[in-house]
Amino acid sequence: MSEPSESEQEPLSNREAQEKWAIDVNVDPYQIPLDELNPAHPSLFEHNKFEAYFERLRAEDPLHLTRESAFGPYWSATTFRDIMYIDTHHDIFSSDIDNGGIRMGGRPAEKPAADSPFYLPMFIMQDPPKHDDQRKVVTPSFTPKRIQELKGLIEQRAGAILDDLPRNEEFNWVRKVSVELTGQMLATIFDVPQEDRHKLIHWSDTVENLGNPDFFETAEEGFQELWKCFEYFDGVWKERASRTEPGDDLISSLVHGEATRNMTPNEFLGNMLLLIVGGNDTTRNSISGGVLALNQNPAQYDKLVNDPSLIPKMVPEIIRWQSPVAHMCRTAMQDVELHGKQIKAGDKVVMWYISGNRDSTEIARADEFLIDRENPRRHLSFGYGIHRCLGNRLGEMQLTVLWQEILKRFPKIEVVGDPVYLRSNFIHGIRELPVRIPG
Ligand code: HEM
Repeated sequence: MSEPSESEQEPLSNREAQEKWAIDVNVDPYQIPLDELNPAHPSLFEHNKFEAYFERLRAEDPLHLTRESAFGPYWSATTFRDIMYIDTHHDIFSSDIDNGGIRMGGRPAEKPAADSPFYLPMFIMQDPPKHDDQRKVVTPSFTPKRIQELKGLIEQRAGAILDDLPRNEEFNWVRKVSVELTGQMLATIFDVPQEDRHKLIHWSDTVENLGNPDFFETAEEGFQELWKCFEYFDGVWKERASRTEPGDDLISSLVHGEATRNMTPNEFLGNMLLLIVGGNDTTRNSISGGVLALNQNPAQYDKLVNDPSLIPKMVPEIIRWQSPVAHMCRTAMQDVELHGKQIKAGDKVVMWYISGNRDSTEIARADEFLIDRENPRRHLSFGYGIHRCLGNRLGEMQLTVLWQEILKRFPKIEVVGDPVYLRSNFIHGIRELPVRIPG
């Protein structure tokens, strides 16, 4: 694995990269030579064609090496067990930004300066002890007690959003419901004005589209946009620091936390983006994915309508089914042998949660969407190990409340057109979901 990755050579613009690596998504992956399979191609996710790739890899080459891709060479871990193994061995498989971080794309030939606008450390991209120290600072915002306190507010907000929806008319569920509810939730946990939620949504979308030529000519342009997020939260930080009584919002926790109060601007922006993207894209796409899955499985939708007490079991099933975070990356810190394959120190390893969640050797009838399955929380959508999602209960609560409020109001939400998927191998997202609510 010594070839330089794209990012170590002359950088291509987003459009050039997309054109250089274009593929025909309609080619059956079973017709492609195994060693040429590149399951990370963003087009596969944009056209919803990735599943057969992973099905084949799980069966024929569960730990797979792709030698050439837009992201450089990488290993794919595709089974439930291998993903768990990698995610729980953080001593071997590092998340540290300086070792390569958690996203595909290799690392720059030289480490950027600590104040470079493109260098954004955040605690999801740290190993212990720094990860643990910073995570501890924000953990109190996600305790069951705190989440319970937010529940009433979410009920009201979800109710208000649903009451405003048009009847007998087609609209995009993603914008009117999924984005709205998660945006309002984020503004609440940061304790910023609700009207500023659009800014948070915009910065979250910016992170997801840094490499998308329809948004930015180059990733650098996208990073420049992100620094407006710093300016905004720098103002919030100063206001929170000046209060005599510390608040119980996330920014106040960062202002007063020992491991976070002296963060550099780059680190502050990095951690803010982690909390924004962490709380936004994931829940948003689970909300949209649930409506789609129930429409694609009408018997399950009927079951739900007849028995709303299934909601708490259905919610984790929706999160498994959607797998809104398709993967996380790690970098091997030493040579490791797994299944007779030699992973070398420095190699990039991708844990495909979206594939592990369809592994029928670990999850019974994994390729079926079953809202009353036994043990529905046995899935990988929140990761595993020390980085396991901090907001998992908050995300589940939002979905639970939303579905309770939906069932109080509407007999059915009908999907009336094809979903438009995000062009991303990281966030398994839905950009548009045309629906109609019968009046
Ligand atoms: C359905 C909803 C959600 C899904 C599927 C999800 C998924 C994930 C995944 C896969 C990880 C990385 C796990 C790993 O590397 O092992 C993660 C980490 C994280 N998530 Fe979530 N997430 C969700 C909701 C949220 C919410 C609502 C928040 C609140 C802001 C949040 C905040 C975070 C944070 C801060 C981390 C970093 C944890 C660490 O590095 O220790 N997530 N999430």
